[in-house]
Amino acid sequence: MAGGTGLTGTHVVDIARSRGHDVVVLARSRGVDLLSGAGLRAALSGVDAVVDVSNVSTLKTEESISFFAGVTRSLLAAGQAAGVSHHLALSIVGVDAAPEGYYAGKVSQERLVAESPVPWTIQRATQFHEFAALMYARAKAGPVHLAPRARTQPIAVREVAEHLVALAESRPAGRVDDLAGPREEGLADMVRAYARAIGHRGWIPAVSLPGAMGRAQRSGALLPDAGAVLGRQTFAEWLDALPDA
Ligand SMILES: NC(=O)c1ccc[n+]([C@@H]2O[C@H](COP(=O)([O-])OP(=O)(O)OC[C@H]3O[C@@H](n4cnc5c(N)ncnc54)[C@H](OP(=O)(O)O)[C@@H]3O)[C@@H](O)[C@H]2O)c1
Repeated sequence: MAGGTGLTGTHVVDIARSRGHDVVVLARSRGVDLLSGAGLRAALSGVDAVVDVSNVSTLKTEESISFFAGVTRSLLAAGQAAGVSHHLALSIVGVDAAPEGYYAGKVSQERLVAESPVPWTIQRATQFHEFAALMYARAKAGPVHLAPRARTQPIAVREVAEHLVALAESRPAGRVDDLAGPREEGLADMVRAYARAIGHRGWIPAVSLPGAMGRAQRSGALLPDAGAVLGRQTFAEWLDALPDA
């Protein structure tokens, strides 16, 4: 489990263990660096399937490509040497609509996985409900929080993790149907609702992010295809389930 200590990875590890799987967590905090490859070969010994939910927090194209391509190359090379028979990567719905910034790295990750001799599956998911909290924390102009305009169909990260474990238990399937939440939401409304839920009382202006990524977010290019698999929990239900501020 590459990135098994992160937001998604913690759920994947929990679900996989509850289903009786023997899980090895690959993260720097567990002594494995996916970029340098330190500790990786030994950790993959005897492993059947690799699930990659590692991540870097950046909006810079070069940093994102360097992380996702670097990690993917390490995992695929070590996986091939160790006889791994299934490489499963989590990507994002619509990444190729605006392959710049963070998304550039995800596009390079997908390309490397699809060209690999290791049998693979790529699951694209929409933004998680937690994306509202991330935007609340990150999108700021000085002390003022901002609410970026975007069309999204957010999903519960727990449900994404359930799908990933089911895919890891199955045969490699190539690019599978998109995974999305049950209904479309406006990201700006989500950020404001999250802010209210945690006790924020100030004004949060809506903003249009610049560049191809901002345009793609507003245009609906990051919404799932008609054939997408839909999750159950709505954003409002996720908000209601947050611990009291
Ligand atoms: N957030 C969303 O809305 C969304 C939607 C769809 C898809 N996704 C995808 O979901 C994936 C997981 O995102 P997340 O938010 O769950 O991740 P996250 O919470 O940021 O966790 C990142 C994980 O990667 C590990 N990691 C980072 N650098 C590493 C390195 N050099 N070597 C080994 N491990 C390293 C971290 O552990 P250490 O720090 O201990 O190394 C941690 O376990 C990403 O690929 C993202 O593109 C996210």
